[in-house]
Order: sequence, then structure tokens, then C-alpha cells
Amino acid sequence: MNISNEQIFLQQHIAASLCDTLAGKKALVRTFGCQQNEADGERIMGALVACGYTPTDELTEADIVILNTCAIREHAEQRVLGVIGSMKKEKEKRPSMLIGMCGCMAQEQHRQELLQKSYPFVDFLFGTDMHHRVPEIVQNALNSRKQKQYVTDAPHGEFGVITEGTPVFRDSDYKARVSVMYGCNNFCSYCIVPYVRGHERSRASADVLGEMRSLVDGGYKDIMLLGQNVNSYRGDKTFPELLSACASFDGEYWVRFMTSHPKDASAELVQVMAQHPRVARHFHLPFQSGNDRILHAMNRKYNREQYLEKAMRIKEMLPDAAITSDVIVGFPTETESEFLDTVELVKTVGFDMLYTFIYSPRKGTVAEKMVGRIPHEEQVRRFQYLSDIQDAIAQTKNDAYVGKTLRVLSDGNFVGRSSQNKIVAFDADVPAGTFINVEIKSAKQYKLVGELKK
Ligand code: SAH
Ligand code: SF4
Ligand code: F3S
Repeated sequence: MNISNEQIFLQQHIAASLCDTLAGKKALVRTFGCQQNEADGERIMGALVACGYTPTDELTEADIVILNTCAIREHAEQRVLGVIGSMKKEKEKRPSMLIGMCGCMAQEQHRQELLQKSYPFVDFLFGTDMHHRVPEIVQNALNSRKQKQYVTDAPHGEFGVITEGTPVFRDSDYKARVSVMYGCNNFCSYCIVPYVRGHERSRASADVLGEMRSLVDGGYKDIMLLGQNVNSYRGDKTFPELLSACASFDGEYWVRFMTSHPKDASAELVQVMAQHPRVARHFHLPFQSGNDRILHAMNRKYNREQYLEKAMRIKEMLPDAAITSDVIVGFPTETESEFLDTVELVKTVGFDMLYTFIYSPRKGTVAEKMVGRIPHEEQVRRFQYLSDIQDAIAQTKNDAYVGKTLRVLSDGNFVGRSSQNKIVAFDADVPAGTFINVEIKSAKQYKLVGELKK
């Protein structure tokens, strides 16, 4: 499960041997999907830099392009296929360029077959547990022009690795992502993630804390701990203990986490947040549906009442925190009145932000085989209805900030984020990565506007 030191040394050796050949060549990694995938993208770029490539954002000057894909919904996959299709022209113009694909879509068997048949100009494809092998994959691609696929066929319980000690090329010099665990064992009936990311595995807390320390020492100000369900963290500490340790280094910084599953977001976690001012005031707690029958069909393992209890405890114990959530509308067999249960829950909790998704069938999942699909127009109607209600709630939530002063981390260009992860625009040109105080003067649905307070 842990990639061995010998394997890491071997890959380092291959990377070093490529440096002369690849000096001056440029690499582009385009990532789709969630924060975990962004974190993976930073590791893939780290490996490419170790091979001698220089990062670029421009497709037209890239000597190697790797598409780090997402499979969460049909729309995400269609976007990726569109981009891959458009690469064909680029490759015809510059046949020496290498094109690779990785990430969650690359892990799906039907996509592997499609790539082989319909996209032969893609040089290589690798799965979500192959990141440590990037130098070897690049070397092979330079030596042979035949499409090669590196994907495990191990069953869920054996699929997935932990890799320590490989380089990371971070997107930002003040915001960072730290994975604490990988994979998922929850098998929510609609979701592809367990199939494409493998079983749950946790990094040793010493490795997480070592990375945290070097980030804090290196001037990082906003550090996000990542896992599909961080509360399932099973290292030598519990997740609340780990979070507490992550929030205890000297200096001003925020630490946040994504995502919590309501079935095991504990009271202890909320307590740690309340005790540690360095833990950002933001709790993302996806509920997916407000109806018990649908929650059961989704295999979420909690009911509406239990969710509401947890959400209300967060609101009570962390009155200055934002609470956000994910919800799916138009799950198979969802009736109008079951949808209205979702609407009611949204009104009862009052989320600062709600990510509403239209149910999208994923190949191989349990829900894909359910009868009683909701017609697309009806799904869109429910989506719109809920979005309109949420927009009004978000406005009310943000109005309450007017007159208050918030600590804000500047992103440059007169805008930044508060601890609650609210977008805050202000009137001063403050360098990115600087903490400031902003007095909020007005509020929009998804943005606060204020003035720098000296
Ligand atoms: N691990 C996280 C979710 C990761 S996926 C969690 O359990 O909360 C992010 C969101 O995408 C999910 O919360 C869900 O709302 C949505 N999603 C996942 N699969 C989906 C599907 N098949 N159709 C529509 N939305 C989906
Ligand atoms: Fe998907 Fe559920 Fe796992 Fe989240 S907890 S990644 S929704 S299976
Ligand atoms: Fe997408 Fe994979 Fe993340 S499916 S949402 S990139 S875990």
C-alpha cells in the first residue's frame, strides 16, 4: 500500500536521467474536478519538473500535456472528451508533443477502451494510483509512440496507494492543499469515487504534520486538509486530534478541511474548531437530500433528523462560521413531495452556499440500475426552483455581515477570502498572501464589499 523507498529512488533516478534531454521543454497539466484532483495535479507537475520540464499554462507551447480528469458527472466527462478531441489538431501541427490522460476518468474501463479505439493520438493513460511512476511513464512515451495504459485492475479493497517523499509543484505560494487520506469506502449509490479512487487509506499523522510544518515555515497562510471523508481518517490520531495539531504551529495562518460526511462528523470536531482560532470558520457538510427514503436509497447512512441535529449544533457552537453543503436533485424515483423535503431542509438550516447538482447516472454504480429516472426537464425545474430559494438565503446571510469587520487573506487584484471562505472585495491594492481587516459596507449574494481598516 505504501510505495517503497526503492520504487521512489528508482523513479528519481529515471527523472534525473531525463533532465538533459528535456531541459528547456515545457509541460502543462490541466486538472478538472475536485481539490483532491488539484492536489494530484501538483504532484504530477512536481514529477515533470523533476524530469527537467518547465511549467507552462499555454497549450501551444507545451511539449507535454497531461489531462487530469474527473468522472463525477456526465457533464464533467463530456468536457474532458471535448478537450481531448481538440488536442488532435495540436498534435497534427506538432507531432513531437506528448499527450497523456490520468485521473478518475482514466480509471474507468469503458474510457480506457474508448481512448484506445477513438483517441490513438493520446500517448499514455494512467490511473489514480500511478502518480509515483510519472518519470517512467514519460520515459516510455519518449521511446515509443504506441499508446500505453497504466491502470490497475485490483479490486476495491486492494486498489490504492500512499506515496510519501515525491516532489510537489504548488500552484500558489500562500495557499496549499494537504491530503490526509485517500479513497472512499462509503459507496453512496450514485457516486463513482470509490470505484475510481480505491479504498480508504490514511497518511501517518507524522507525515501530515511534517508537511504542515514546512508549509507554515514556508509562509503558507491558508492550508486545506483533504479527504473524501476526513472524519474517516484512521492514522495514529483521530481527525479532530490531527486538526488540533495542525492548528497549533506558531504564526498567523488558517487551516481548513474538506469534506465531512454527516454520519461521522463528531461533536469533538466541532469542539476543536471552537477551541482553535486558526481553524477556518467554515464547515462544509453535504446533505444530498432532505428526505429519509431518498437518503436511504442513496446509501448515506443518516436521516434528515440526524443531519439537522449536526447542522444546528455547528450553528450553535460556531456562531461565526459559514455552513455550506452539496445536494442532488432529481435522484431516481424522487417525488415532488420528497424534493420539497429537500427545499424545507435548505430553508431550515440556512446555508451560506449550496452546491446543487442534477443527478447524473454513473456507469457501474447502484443508482445507475434503478428504475424511475426523473426526466431531465423536471430535474432542471427542481434545480432552478432550489437555486432561486438558495440565492435569497445567501443574500440574507451576507447582509448580516454589513457593518462587521472581517479578517481577510488577500488574493491580489482588490479581492480576497475571509475565514468563512466568503469572497471579499476591498478598496486597496494589497499583495496576495497578506492578511488584512476589511469593514464590510455592502453585500451581494456571493460577495461582500468593504473598505480596508487600518
Ligand atoms: N466525498 C464528498 C463528495 C465528493 S463529490 C462527500 O461525500 O461529501 C462532490 C459532490 O458531487 C457530492 O457531494 C454530490 O453532491 C455530487 N455528486 C456525486 N455524484 C454525483 C452524481 N452521480 N450525480 C450528481 N451529483 C453527484
Ligand atoms: Fe462519493 Fe459518498 Fe464517498 Fe462522498 S462519501 S466520495 S459522495 S461515495
Ligand atoms: Fe472528480 Fe475524481 Fe474528484 S471523480 S470530483 S476528480 S475524486
